[in-house]
Amino acid sequence: MATDRLRILHVASEAAPLVKTGGLADVAGALPKALCAIGHDARVAIPGYRSALRAAERHGITWGHDPLVIEAGGVDHRIGVGTVVLDGLTFHILACNELFDRDGIYGPGAGIDYDDNPRRFAVFSKASLALSGYLRWTPHVIHAHDWQAGLVPALRERGFGRVLPATRTVFSIHNIAYQGACEGDAMRLAGFDPWLYNPMHLEHFGRFNPLKAGIVFADRVTAVSRTYAQEIQTQEFGYTLDAVARHHAYKLDGIVNGIDTLEWDPATDPHLPAHFDAANLAGKAACTAALRRECGLADHPGSCVVGVVSRLVEQKGIDLILATVEPYILAGRMQLIVLGSGDLALEHRLHHLASRHPGWVYAWYGYNEGLAHRIIAGSDALLVPSRYEPCGLTQLYAKRYGTLPIVRHTGGLADTVTDVAVGPGAGNGFTFGPVDLGHFSSVLDRALGLYQHFPQEWKAAQLRAMADDHSWHGVARQYEDVYRSLSFAGAREDKALTKPYAMVTAKKRG
Ligand code: ADP
Ligand code: GLC
Repeated sequence: MATDRLRILHVASEAAPLVKTGGLADVAGALPKALCAIGHDARVAIPGYRSALRAAERHGITWGHDPLVIEAGGVDHRIGVGTVVLDGLTFHILACNELFDRDGIYGPGAGIDYDDNPRRFAVFSKASLALSGYLRWTPHVIHAHDWQAGLVPALRERGFGRVLPATRTVFSIHNIAYQGACEGDAMRLAGFDPWLYNPMHLEHFGRFNPLKAGIVFADRVTAVSRTYAQEIQTQEFGYTLDAVARHHAYKLDGIVNGIDTLEWDPATDPHLPAHFDAANLAGKAACTAALRRECGLADHPGSCVVGVVSRLVEQKGIDLILATVEPYILAGRMQLIVLGSGDLALEHRLHHLASRHPGWVYAWYGYNEGLAHRIIAGSDALLVPSRYEPCGLTQLYAKRYGTLPIVRHTGGLADTVTDVAVGPGAGNGFTFGPVDLGHFSSVLDRALGLYQHFPQEWKAAQLRAMADDHSWHGVARQYEDVYRSLSFAGAREDKALTKPYAMVTAKKRG
């Protein structure tokens, strides 16, 4: 290793606090900051969406003199390079009016993508690689996240290899279900050789697949939890890429996300009406009372306040909640508060549930940072019944706020929540297995039973949850180990690129 201080460029389609639609933004904003805190020079590149630019302008963005000119499929795009430093972290914002100056991030509405997303993110990926020459700052590692940056490792290898010969790439999978697959023609936007359009490289079941490109070409691949790194190698969770994940398992690791413990701290959280910590939980009761008032819930302290903060999509199991909770509400055992946005059909069904049970069910649709904090703090339990969950962050926030998570045993939820049923004096939440109403009702029965009849045991589980350390510091050290495993000299030799899938035996990592 030539240097102790690594230069690391994170390339992501969203990063907090400038633009966020989900947990990717939390990670892309927090991990580089944690890497800086342990002595590295980490920065982030994001697209200059209209909303991101507005946010950056409030913090004093500075612009490079000349634009970068990025060609894609015979069309030149002029990219303005804006830089803003927030809380010590440098963001490079790649602005291009015709591609990013729109109201939406990925599309004009929930679940609808812009038609030109292949072009938008091909240009973004190319521009993020060209940043190095523009800034005269050559990263040791480019760390690309999810399909929107999936072309970065392939471009580094096949397009920019001569310019960045010693730069290595890491690709993180936050959600393998979103692959950015599109018509094969889109390969031309990035300028790849047509011979790469084959199943070993960029083609996948007759389409060009940027997520696959990331897995195939990156020097190292990570998934956002240990269990998810295993799951994506199976047919059930691999979303057709399981064989690709198995083939490249030799360079795949799982690293559980951290959380921003300054932003999510019940002792100082500015969004809360009262504060608390493990030594004194009185403030939590005040948060619960205030939350009931804010959401118009009946003052019924005997019932368990159960929160949900989630994208409203099939992945998150919201339909299970809708199909299961009514008897518990009618029995006066549970009050439900949902904050979410996404699928309009799910919103509609939530709306009906809330209107059938005024004072017992409250739902707020849209994005609301303050309410998210107050729900996490004021609820007794947080529901995350996801069908799959690469990592999940809300259960980590919940644990820190003494709110017991009720989760499906999958992905990062399995890595971070231990059921209280494992034995006396253990556990920090509740887990269930198969996704069906029987198993979900049974976990609710167990959680509500403990809450209503065994307050001391409930409190002990709260304290265990609050004691778990999910800070980014330790996580950043794990990524540092991944970066340091790379050789920064010469060209790499990638055996998997030269062998057909059939010749590689799937091997589980232990
Ligand atoms: P995913 O990235 O799959 O949506 P995560 O649990 O990793 O799931 O991250 C979700 C992030 O988005 C968390 O920080 C959560 O608090 C936040 N979030 C989700 N929905 C909302 C909402 N409607 N309002 C505010 N924050 C939200
Ligand atoms: C994705 C996953 C979520 C994960 C987040 C951050 O959105 O769905 O489980 O926590 O990325 O890695």
